[in-house]
Amino acid sequence: MCGIVGYVGSNLAYPVIIDGLKKLEYRGYDSAGVALHMGNSIEVYKKEGKVAALEESVHGKNVQATIGIGHTRWATHGEPSDRNAHPHYSNSRNIAMIHNGIIENYAQLKSELLQKGYTFKSDTDSEVLVNFIEDIKINNECSLEEAVRIALKRVVGAYVILLLDKDLPDTIIAARKGSPLVIGVGENAHYLGSDASPMLAYTKEVVYINDYELAIVRPDELILKNLGNERITPFVQKLDMELAAIEKGGFDHFMLKEIFEQPQTIFDSLRGRMDAEQQSITLSGVDKIAERLLRANRIIIVACGTSWHAGLLAEYVIEELCRINVEVEYASEFRYRNPIITDQDVIIAISQSGETADTLVALENAKKQGATIFGLVNVVGSSIARMSDAGAYTHAGPEIGVASTKAFTAQLTVLYLIALKIAQLKGTIEATLFNRLLADLANVPAYVKEILDDQHAVIQAIARKYSDARDFLYLGRGYNFPIALEGALKLKEVSYIHAEGYPAAEMKHGPIALVDEQLPVVFVATKDSYHEKIISNIQEIKARKGKVIAVVSHGDNVATGLADDVMVVPHVHEIIAPVLSVIPLQLLSYYIGVYRGLDVDKPRNLAKSVTVE
Ligand code: M6R
Repeated sequence: MCGIVGYVGSNLAYPVIIDGLKKLEYRGYDSAGVALHMGNSIEVYKKEGKVAALEESVHGKNVQATIGIGHTRWATHGEPSDRNAHPHYSNSRNIAMIHNGIIENYAQLKSELLQKGYTFKSDTDSEVLVNFIEDIKINNECSLEEAVRIALKRVVGAYVILLLDKDLPDTIIAARKGSPLVIGVGENAHYLGSDASPMLAYTKEVVYINDYELAIVRPDELILKNLGNERITPFVQKLDMELAAIEKGGFDHFMLKEIFEQPQTIFDSLRGRMDAEQQSITLSGVDKIAERLLRANRIIIVACGTSWHAGLLAEYVIEELCRINVEVEYASEFRYRNPIITDQDVIIAISQSGETADTLVALENAKKQGATIFGLVNVVGSSIARMSDAGAYTHAGPEIGVASTKAFTAQLTVLYLIALKIAQLKGTIEATLFNRLLADLANVPAYVKEILDDQHAVIQAIARKYSDARDFLYLGRGYNFPIALEGALKLKEVSYIHAEGYPAAEMKHGPIALVDEQLPVVFVATKDSYHEKIISNIQEIKARKGKVIAVVSHGDNVATGLADDVMVVPHVHEIIAPVLSVIPLQLLSYYIGVYRGLDVDKPRNLAKSVTVE
């Protein structure tokens, strides 16, 4: 939700900032803007739309500055427009600020400022904050740093803010609470970003800023303080990420690249963790809290969106293999509904970004009540990873496409390992089943490659055939039910077609009324213990003239004979099947989005990292 970039050094800031904003566009693309310190003044350029529109509007203007800040917006307060775009000036134009987050008490602060005669050009909470800071600076005759510190003690909400001050030609002031901020350490230069991607071309030395920390950033100096004005020693880490990982590498879209990366990313999720020959799983995060897991009353899985779908599958798998009661919660509901949590509960938080605001707050609440937090996160060093008691990274690499694909299959892969590891520790799994599941898991990267190789053209043709449909229904049973939900979500996100995911048998209790010859119904119908039942469900749809598209196991002539179109996946144990059956659905959504002429990497209204509630 909004990307922020900053640069202070000896080179020109503008190209670094524009390049960084393009890397962060996945976080929001309603508008973009930059503020450059020109020596005697701060110049702000901003424009509704994507970063390309900003670049075009700045063309020919003076951008000869060596310090600046930039923003790409996902609108919260105020519609996407030039005037609501960041950066925002203070009334005197002496301060410019960018903000990622939400200032919840902005209305109160605004009314105080209005009484003092301040005026506002935008509808944003951010413009209120920059003026609130300016007001404190003037009244207290203090430095910007001091004014920010005082202001933030009154602010309720989440933020990363970067500020330029006309009186400070070589300094960016930054602060965070609840939204991510990374500072890259270069040679006589510092780079600031919502994640490390804007600085990857220049440095691999980074400092992750924590909540309630304030940074004073100059070309040759990075001072970190807490809000009590005490100095903190910056902890410099080395990034384990290559530039190629955040580029399209010859694919038309990041989403397609990420779908095709899955044989490798799933392999990376398994690497060093599973030894099929030794029949062992190494997960240090599980070892760390093994005792807690073994005596846990229940496991509560907390997540949002696609990560929640991974959690739903984990519920089925953990309950089956480990015989532990599992509950799966939408973080946004869980955080507000006063759930009963004890120190006997283990929470598994699933998040690609590790920054999703609802998940983060839900975890903070659960932690206060004594629960143990296990984070399953993709982004290394992210907030959820750092606040967890133990965890495992998914190792999917940077996911840029807003619609999650490779992060999801990496989540499933690690969740399988977690379930198998706990089951082995608890003694709730037979050796033969353990070995079978391990063997299937070891083959998943090759099977995914097989699907991508063999089914790519088939799925393109199916996508073209149905790309004009108005609605879709996705149905699955048992382990494939979460995949039906995920397939529907993927289609909605990138094609804007209305799609519903449903348990296949539940369809009779309502959605069947939607079925007519216009409605494509996607069945996730790989061979499992419910296969005969789902075949009956297919018959029920066919009897009502619905169009059936089915994901089927290799060699399943019955489902293939019934369906209008099929997407074939290798046959594996039913517990492992979902990580394969989702692959055709990702491709189907991708191509339907492309055939509808849409920007599948940046679907309207969405953002990759949802750091507001
Ligand atoms: O970063 P997270 O996994 O916490 O994000 C959760 C959801 O916002 C995310 O999965 C969202 O639903 C994706 N756009 C799905 O493709």
